[in-house]
Amino acid sequence: MTRTRVAHILKTGQPETTVDVRGWVRTKRESKQDFAFLELNDGSCMKNLQVVVDARIPDYSTLIKQIQTGASVAVIGTIKESLGKGQRVEVHAQSLKVLGTADPATYPLQKKGHSFEFLREKAHLRPRTNTFGAIARVRNALCAAIHNFFQEREFLYVQTPIITTSDCEGAGQVFQVTTLDLARLQQSKGPLDYSQDFFGKKAGLTVSGQLEGEIFATAVGDVYTFGPTFRAENSNTTRHLAEFWMVEPEMPFYELEENMDLAESFVRSIIKDVMNKCSEDLEFFNERIEPTLLASLQNIVENDFIRLTYTEAIKILEESGQKFEFPIAWGHDMQSEHERYLTEKHFKQPVILTDYPRAIKSFYMRCNEDGKTVRAMDVLVPRIGEIIGGSQREERHDVLIERMKESGLVPEDYWWYLELRQYGTVPHSGFGLGLERTVQLVTGMTNIRDCIPFPRTPKSADF
Ligand code: 4AD
Ligand code: MG
Repeated sequence: MTRTRVAHILKTGQPETTVDVRGWVRTKRESKQDFAFLELNDGSCMKNLQVVVDARIPDYSTLIKQIQTGASVAVIGTIKESLGKGQRVEVHAQSLKVLGTADPATYPLQKKGHSFEFLREKAHLRPRTNTFGAIARVRNALCAAIHNFFQEREFLYVQTPIITTSDCEGAGQVFQVTTLDLARLQQSKGPLDYSQDFFGKKAGLTVSGQLEGEIFATAVGDVYTFGPTFRAENSNTTRHLAEFWMVEPEMPFYELEENMDLAESFVRSIIKDVMNKCSEDLEFFNERIEPTLLASLQNIVENDFIRLTYTEAIKILEESGQKFEFPIAWGHDMQSEHERYLTEKHFKQPVILTDYPRAIKSFYMRCNEDGKTVRAMDVLVPRIGEIIGGSQREERHDVLIERMKESGLVPEDYWWYLELRQYGTVPHSGFGLGLERTVQLVTGMTNIRDCIPFPRTPKSADF
């Protein structure tokens, strides 16, 4: 007999059919009338399956004594209509097997309602809680929705390298990858000789798959990469991880307008998919985590995003009369408090800001005629701030070289990137969406460390 998932039994299980169901016991209640109730969860859905164990089954008292919160069990039983409230059906056990016990004196999840901080220290057990089970299902649904969106539009999924010798964002936040003997190097004097290193030159973990994405976009058409990304930024915020996942579409012949249109329908489409697929989980988040969640997601799905330039946004912020922790003026990078003011207070919906000052944006963004701004676009959403960063790319060979020098990069290091502009260059655009920030948006979780199974942040890479 094959195992049936709890989600299937609760949704479509027919009374009087026999099922094999397995999972972890959330609670046990023993009744005086010689039977016990087990609340069984197997992670397939938020709800538990009620298993009724009759005292007449073999070894009843020994088995029931062994079963505590956290124990794993296998049940063969019959589906019955449930007389109790809260569930359509339940399972009456014919046989019950304890697969693994959990000592109540030491089991860390014995009690309910642990703080998220506590659960971060228990990353090996937190997926067994309601909240983290739901986050795992939502994250999975988001990933599927992301692939669907691009596959339906005939984008090619391209795998870009994790180890690379270029720094896409040019921001010096690269984790180095080396096989050099650091202990020995510490004792020797003189400059480092990277020709002795594994790759023969300085290498690191990728901060973005964009540059390689551009190679394929200017050959096979619309593409996207979707993979882990690494940034050694020493910022301990609720929105930054040292290892996060990013989706990066790259489209030849797209100018900024079309890039914004795609980003907007993309965000809307994946949220809509998750609202359909994970409605029960989202209701839980709305009830327990963020009471405005469902209304805010509905608002994103139903309304056009506001579009304005960075310069216009700065004017709004300056005239807002709002006291910000970081004062804002033209030329400054926007902080999350500014982004949130625009999306939560001023416009009360997502905003796409364009045409940022060239001095604060990456070298690859296309320069505007004004000489001061670039064709950048950031998508900002309530509660999070920036969720997408993108741009039209600089396709002019000479301008790109000038921008690289201005950004402190050595053009020769990016010779292959420059050759894309020498041979058959085309206007093109793309953007990057942070997966964990999207999980934050869709679940209402306030800390990004709870939106990835195993968070990596400064001074923290356990598990
Ligand atoms: O704005 P960013 O740095 O853009 C790029 O990397 C471009 N190469 C993308 C492109 O045009 N193909 O990052 C894009 C998004 C951000 O908007 C944010 O959602 C997420 O990636 N992100 C992070 N998420 C978690 N932790 C971090 N440290 C992040 N840094 C960026
Ligand atoms: Mg950005």
